[in-house]
Amino acid sequence: MKLNAGFYRLFRAPKSRFLRVHLGPGQRNYLQGWINVDANMFTGKCDVWANLSDGLPFRQDSVDAIYSHHVVEHLPDLNFHFREIFRILKPGGVFRVGGPNGDTALRKYLENDLVWFSDFPVKHNSIGGKLENFIFCRCEHLTILTPSFLQELASEAGFVDVKTVLPKIQSYHPKLFDQAVMALEWETTPDAPHTLILEGQKPRGI
Ligand SMILES: C[S@@+](CC[C@H](N)C(=O)[O-])C[C@H]1O[C@@H](n2cnc3c(N)ncnc32)[C@H](O)[C@@H]1O
Repeated sequence: MKLNAGFYRLFRAPKSRFLRVHLGPGQRNYLQGWINVDANMFTGKCDVWANLSDGLPFRQDSVDAIYSHHVVEHLPDLNFHFREIFRILKPGGVFRVGGPNGDTALRKYLENDLVWFSDFPVKHNSIGGKLENFIFCRCEHLTILTPSFLQELASEAGFVDVKTVLPKIQSYHPKLFDQAVMALEWETTPDAPHTLILEGQKPRGI
């Protein structure tokens, strides 16, 4: 996989055209018109087979928009990942990154709101079990995502205009993150979102 991604980055990654990259589409979320990148090419559909932990298989300053949904919580080094997102975006390029909303989960835990939590991937009856299930997802998630943590990662990488947005209904860049993107987001409770989404921009003129 590392060789494949290295070869793609050096010889096949587009240089100059309008380019949108979708990280971790999974089994059902392939986006037409985007370059879809995933480590798992057997159960899902992707264009580039690569491990995001090794870096992003694109040239510096070559990408207009990056989208990922419920992927970053699986990665071991988020500082490195946000620096990679910054490296490959063109000046003025934007990202939209989302994952499990730790802030809402902690609030719902304190409110003892058993109904807000789902039974995926494990069914628990206790509020503590439900919180553990949401945050760690049977040990598949490596971190807890909160707005201030994601803001810190993005700002340290150099991004500006970093803002949280509501899943499914809100974007500061609707021409790039269009209806096809919003359709992938499955949020049903905008007052207590399960998914935390952050958008940000690489400064122009650098
Ligand atoms: C929970 S699924 C999310 C799928 C889809 N984005 C969605 O919102 O339903 C996580 C996806 O990220 C991919 N993924 C996780 N870690 C990865 C890594 N290190 N490199 C590349 N893809 C990874 C998995 O293969 C999977 O397709």
